[in-house]
Amino acid sequence: MRKILVTSALPYANGHIHLGHLVEYIQTDIWARAQRLRGNRCIYICADDTHGTAIMIRAGQENRSPEALIADMSEAHQKDFAGMDIQFDHYGSTNSAETKQFCEEIWRALRRDGLVKEKEVSQLYDTKVGTFLADRFVRGTCPKCGKADQYGDNCECGATYSPTQLIDPVSTLSGTRPEVRQATHLFVELEKMHEFLEEWTQKGTHLQSEIANYLAGHFLNDTLYDWDISRPAPYFGFEIPDSPGNYWYVWYDAPIGYIGATLQWSKLNGENVDEWWRSADTEIYHVIGKDITYFHTLFWPAMLKTAGLTLPKKIHVHGFLTVNGEKMSKRKGTFILASTYLEHLDPAYLRYYYASKISGRVDDLDLNFTDIVGKVNSDLVGNLVNLASRTAKFAEPLGLSEIYPEDGGIFAEAASRMEEIAEAYEAFDFSRVTRLVMQIGDMANKYVEDAAPWSLKKDPEKQVELQNVCTIALNVYRQMVIYLSPILPHLARDTAELLGERVEDWRLESVKTPLVGTKVNKFRHLMQRMDPQKIDAMIARSQEINAEEEKMKDVAKWNDGPEPLEAEPLAPECTIEDFTKVDLRVARIIDAKHVPTANKLLQLTLSLGGGHTRNVFAGIKAAYNPEDLVGRLVICVANLKPRQMKFGLSEGMVCAAGAGGTEIFLLSPDDGAKPGHRVH
Ligand code: MSP
Ligand code: ZN
Repeated sequence: MRKILVTSALPYANGHIHLGHLVEYIQTDIWARAQRLRGNRCIYICADDTHGTAIMIRAGQENRSPEALIADMSEAHQKDFAGMDIQFDHYGSTNSAETKQFCEEIWRALRRDGLVKEKEVSQLYDTKVGTFLADRFVRGTCPKCGKADQYGDNCECGATYSPTQLIDPVSTLSGTRPEVRQATHLFVELEKMHEFLEEWTQKGTHLQSEIANYLAGHFLNDTLYDWDISRPAPYFGFEIPDSPGNYWYVWYDAPIGYIGATLQWSKLNGENVDEWWRSADTEIYHVIGKDITYFHTLFWPAMLKTAGLTLPKKIHVHGFLTVNGEKMSKRKGTFILASTYLEHLDPAYLRYYYASKISGRVDDLDLNFTDIVGKVNSDLVGNLVNLASRTAKFAEPLGLSEIYPEDGGIFAEAASRMEEIAEAYEAFDFSRVTRLVMQIGDMANKYVEDAAPWSLKKDPEKQVELQNVCTIALNVYRQMVIYLSPILPHLARDTAELLGERVEDWRLESVKTPLVGTKVNKFRHLMQRMDPQKIDAMIARSQEINAEEEKMKDVAKWNDGPEPLEAEPLAPECTIEDFTKVDLRVARIIDAKHVPTANKLLQLTLSLGGGHTRNVFAGIKAAYNPEDLVGRLVICVANLKPRQMKFGLSEGMVCAAGAGGTEIFLLSPDDGAKPGHRVH
């Protein structure tokens, strides 16, 4: 029995799980279940990746602590995963004492081996927000081609540079111009591990060959650059014990989260973490997307090696999801959250469809909406489930035959594919698994077609024959479901129940022994056809969610606080009649002057056009100079009862907002309004 620990990459806690993520979590889940089906011990460990600037900023924008944000996100992630039938042995968090413990342990080893050095770094600093800016929070003009509004570290023209080289940099957090500041960062000298990494990546079978070649051609052919693994405060993460005020960069503690989560699991289950992470007989598998190859294939093995921890047996890299041949698009509604998918569709569809497209290579994978409907309806409903739905109801009163009948070799053929299917699972070639199983289904359905149990049913003489046909169909169906059970765990459970078995007792070898002489339980619907209209509804809903999200982003950017409304709560409700009693008009200020004896007032002459004027005393002296006002348009209350003041007759009011004093803001109409226009 092998002892396997498999992980998926730890999803960032600053966003929800979407169909792209699921390419990874579904395939790892299938692989882990397949290992268990073969009788291996296999634990699937994952966690949320919780640290870093992005999460700190987002929490700030939402007016809450990062801890509160990551707690909510962890709950949402776990709910999405459970809805997709993704089953972890443990789902932890990098923001844990357990992860911190291993961060410190690995750190001591890096220090001990002299791999850590200090360097001065110039970085852009946002003085308004009070933080150093990660590259993606800076935009500016490309220093190479001069194109405006480019990212902090790369331009559309292909140029890469340091954010401090950007022309006219702007912080996307505050819209202000950041300044260059010096800070001391800690670096890991990866070059000192060059020889080990060369050996580990190129000589073993730890990596797919395309990944090994990529590393050889892009990194290992040159000096490995020092890796900047610290960030100055403020930063949401772990403070470095021997470097106060500095925090480990999120990518330092993220992979250590794999170990931290294993330690959490160990504590909960009376296990010993060292039997997994300091053990020669444990196989560690990391499943990751191609975008995070560098961290996992160079930096991570170097850290593990230095600390004397178990190196991965394999790092399995997969490609990215496209939808209908394109990048997922928020505008088109093809950026689909797991939760939105689950509101509309059965998780089995996506699990099966992904499985049918996953071959174990690094290529991207396309989710095509026409294709998925065709695939699900022909393979799962038309082929697999059809076998049971055409025979189970006839078998219910009869049970299965006492002796497995002659079936022309179908059962034996299906059983003979066991090794091939096991190997395909091992190699993440699930597409091959689905093909091999569907071929079995084709044979069996043809057999049922020819045997026509629906005709046998009508003939009382042919009940033994009917029982035999059903026994064959249901046994082959059972073989297929056992083979597919890592992909379709829900269907597996329902099928075991139908046949009076416990799904937990199924092993891959179970396909070799036919089920005979047992009862067949009442047939319940196993799977619905996939309805294309539900896909349309899911896309429409995704567009809606994305539009709402865009709106919320603007609101966050404007950052309008509650203070003005709190300072002056809303007045009691009024009617439209109340409102129309007040005649608001556009007016032009044609004269403005100080009132010698009044220290708050300006005297304004307002023109309503055509020679109609109003004399108004306005309490705006602290906020405006008279000479700046002449000529501008304002809004005035034109039918206010005139009032005699000690300086003269006041014949109206000008409309203004603000707290008073210097904080007064006159209202003015948009261009085109003319003096005398009524305000409705
Ligand atoms: N937090 C890091 C991983 C740290 S692991 C120590 C991270 N998080 S992520 O949420 O951005 O991505 C998690 C995983 O999902 C990564 O392996 C990533 O490659 C994968 N995917 C994210 N979007 C994807 C697609 N559109 N398609 C396929 N996989 C995708 O990276
Ligand atoms: Zn450029």
